[in-house]
Amino acid sequence: MPHDRTRTFDFRLSTFNYGRVNGRGLFVVLEGIDGSGTTTQVDILSRDLAGRGRRVLATREPSGGPVGRLLREILLGQHRVPDGAAVAGATMALLFAADRRDHLQREVEPALAAGTDVVSDRYLLSSFAYQMEEADRDWVRGLARGVRQPDVTILLDLPVAIAAQRRRAAGRPEERYDADATLEKVAQNYRALAAADPSVIVLDGAAGVDEVAAAIASAMSDVLP
Ligand code: TYD
Repeated sequence: MPHDRTRTFDFRLSTFNYGRVNGRGLFVVLEGIDGSGTTTQVDILSRDLAGRGRRVLATREPSGGPVGRLLREILLGQHRVPDGAAVAGATMALLFAADRRDHLQREVEPALAAGTDVVSDRYLLSSFAYQMEEADRDWVRGLARGVRQPDVTILLDLPVAIAAQRRRAAGRPEERYDADATLEKVAQNYRALAAADPSVIVLDGAAGVDEVAAAIASAMSDVLP
């Protein structure tokens, strides 16, 4: 069955209401190359946190806001410039940065302030891993200056070939960054970023869904009160 964006989007925005937490919610981000399983695991983790009596907002970037919707169209190859070329890398970097600010203002900050945990499918590390391949690295880093850091970032690391196989099996349409050669560089960027930042938790994304979910739950147990 083809990937149904609208339905996925509706579900991902659902808020689970199972009890209250005191103070600010926890901001958790799942990262990885396309087909790494972040979408599946965000859903499982959100249910897991809700089952622990926490309120949870499951969300994602590109977000459901105006810039995020435009980004999804561009990722699918729409909005080409007049000579038929794809939208420039620097433009993509600005749009992802703009979507992030919009996502924070519209969804993430209000939820965290209300004591709701936020679990996001992609965030800052995606911009570093992907846009550094198509725009100046320092400039891309500069766009992230002053932006809220997540409390926890989990990277699902797996071979590009397995991720490609999963995308094909799910019938997902080919998107802007889906070429194996591109994702190989993105995967390397992710690994380098995680190696330089001990706060990023790296897990084996090639394992089965249940195994990855258990590894994430175990990592979260170390973080949760
Ligand atoms: P993806 O997360 O796979 O969503 P979907 O399941 O709807 O296809 O697609 C988002 C794409 O956007 C993915 O290729 C990574 C890319 N991306 C960036 O390049 N930079 C960013 O900052 C973000 C958030 C995403």
